[in-house]
Amino acid sequence: MLKKEAGSAELPQHIAFIMDGNGRWARKRGLPRTAGHREGARTLRRIIRDLDSMGIKFATFYAFSTENWKRSDEEVSTLMRLFEENLDDLVNYENENIRLRFIGGRERLSDTLRKKMLDAEEKSKSHTGMTVILAINYGGRDDIVRAAKRSAELISEGSLRPDDLTEERFESFLQTDGVPPVDLMVRTGGEIRISNFLIWQISYAELYFTDTLWCDFSKKDLEAAVNEFMSRSRRYGDAR
Ligand code: IPE
Ligand code: IPE
Ligand code: MG
Repeated sequence: MLKKEAGSAELPQHIAFIMDGNGRWARKRGLPRTAGHREGARTLRRIIRDLDSMGIKFATFYAFSTENWKRSDEEVSTLMRLFEENLDDLVNYENENIRLRFIGGRERLSDTLRKKMLDAEEKSKSHTGMTVILAINYGGRDDIVRAAKRSAELISEGSLRPDDLTEERFESFLQTDGVPPVDLMVRTGGEIRISNFLIWQISYAELYFTDTLWCDFSKKDLEAAVNEFMSRSRRYGDAR
């Protein structure tokens, strides 16, 4: 249950998830890693519903990092196939009014997946409910380099003066443009690291790490993370 006591802090507006531990979940059961990813996709759909019912407005999920190409061809192609299959399901959330967005470089993705991503964004763009952002072939450093290139282009064209490149302006070149900064970042699977996720966007996020594997992550675990978030004091450098 969410502890919404009078006077307690607000719900996080934006939660980012590092969905880690699928491989270990499968290994514990003597299954191939890909079976863990299949179960992880079910967890993702379940957690999206839970977030929506809790009233969370933005959720970003780390589905595939720029480093995950190092995995076997079999694992990478299963993951790509799962993204395609799940997009169909997620788009069918139409009644639930969920808006889908994607971050990450699309150049290395298949034509089929790219098309499904565009379709999903197109079909859900007028939805006014929760925004779900899937990070596929995403890297925080890559995001920043792309934004730096964009700034350099505008400067060399003469449409941006170096002095006008403020934090806000630079942020608008990141792939999360228009999305509020991350309030709470949750990592499942026991590792205490960021693994090149939203490195700019989490600069003032509250971090929450749990040993629970992503496949086992439940509504109760989600509520525990949100309750912990609401119990923390966010000072933003102030002396309050
Ligand atoms: C996270 O689970 C999913 C992706 C990175 C795509 P892992 O596949 O990293 O699972 P573990 O960490 O090996 O258990
Ligand atoms: C982070 O998990 C990436 C995703 C969840 C998509 P990894 O399993 O790839 O991270 P490391 O290798 O443990 O840092
Ligand atoms: Mg992992």
